Amino acid sequence: MDVSLRTSLGSKLVLAAPVMTASGTFGYGDDAPAAVDLGALGAVVTKSITRHPREGHPPPRISETPSGLLNAIGLANIGVDEFCRERLPALAHIGSVVIVSIAGSSMDEYAEVLSIIEAHDPDIGGYEINVSCPNVAEGGMEFGVDCAMTESLTRRLRDLTGRFLMVKLSPNVTDIGDIARSAEGGGADALSAINTVVGMDIDPASGRPSLHTVLGGLSGPAIRPIALACVYKVARAVQIPVVGLGGISDADDVIRFLQAGAAAVQIGTANYRDPAIAVQIIAALRERLAGMGLAAPSDLPGVAA
Ligand SMILES: Cc1cc2nc3c(=O)[nH]c(=O)nc-3n(C[C@H](O)[C@H](O)[C@H](O)COP(=O)(O)O)c2cc1C
Repeated sequence: MDVSLRTSLGSKLVLAAPVMTASGTFGYGDDAPAAVDLGALGAVVTKSITRHPREGHPPPRISETPSGLLNAIGLANIGVDEFCRERLPALAHIGSVVIVSIAGSSMDEYAEVLSIIEAHDPDIGGYEINVSCPNVAEGGMEFGVDCAMTESLTRRLRDLTGRFLMVKLSPNVTDIGDIARSAEGGGADALSAINTVVGMDIDPASGRPSLHTVLGGLSGPAIRPIALACVYKVARAVQIPVVGLGGISDADDVIRFLQAGAAAVQIGTANYRDPAIAVQIIAALRERLAGMGLAAPSDLPGVAA
């Protein structure tokens, strides 16, 4: 059985495979190890870019937990000016679709970052909006936990670009379906879910939290069931495509997310174990689908409603 992994995310983006690398876990995209065949990937999502360079939080900012990783990197990145000057030109030649992740602490900052990138008329597939940033102008509440803020931020960015625009949802909310509908209402082309789950750990000998910031974001296999539930809820709440992520480490995990309602997935923490894992997962997914007698990921049976 010939399997086609080509996947459309709405009308603006076609991927060679329904598997991308997740923001913050694969650098800027142009710095991947040479051994990784980027052309096999559906897309590469860059580290989140802000208006100005950020050093991020002081160490310790990464800590391992059972089946998971706690991080409080604090959006360390080179800032949009250096990104456009030093990275954007190279990204046109990596052989994969590039999705640029954008972050900010005010709506103006998100809009400015996106406008600066747009002014370069870059050869990119589109944008992923990281709404898990404290909105300083509104007193620190994250954009992604408030429906009205999510909708107006999405609409503001929608007005600035015709490119594919995906909003990345936080699981740390009361009802992720409501937030998803707000992003769809603001004009998003797709939604990705989930960002990290709030977590903390303590060294029992010293009584010290494992992260400098005390609280951090949990990722990896520990959050997979949470992510699956979020993707299931989001897919039932909206009409636009959903990209699932959270704890995916093999082709069976990809199949789980597709069955829960995702049109594609991203691989995050697993890249730290092996930067070629996403490419290997794509090959394994093709074999698994062929073994099931299916011609495409969209032939997978979904979860009964
Ligand atoms: C070290 C680290 C850095 C991350 N940085 C970002 C980031 O800059 N922007 C973003 O949207 N998500 C960021 N994330 C979240 C991941 O993209 C992903 O949503 C999350 O880790 C869940 O997927 P996973 O379990 O496959 O890692 C980061 C995650 C980790 C572990």
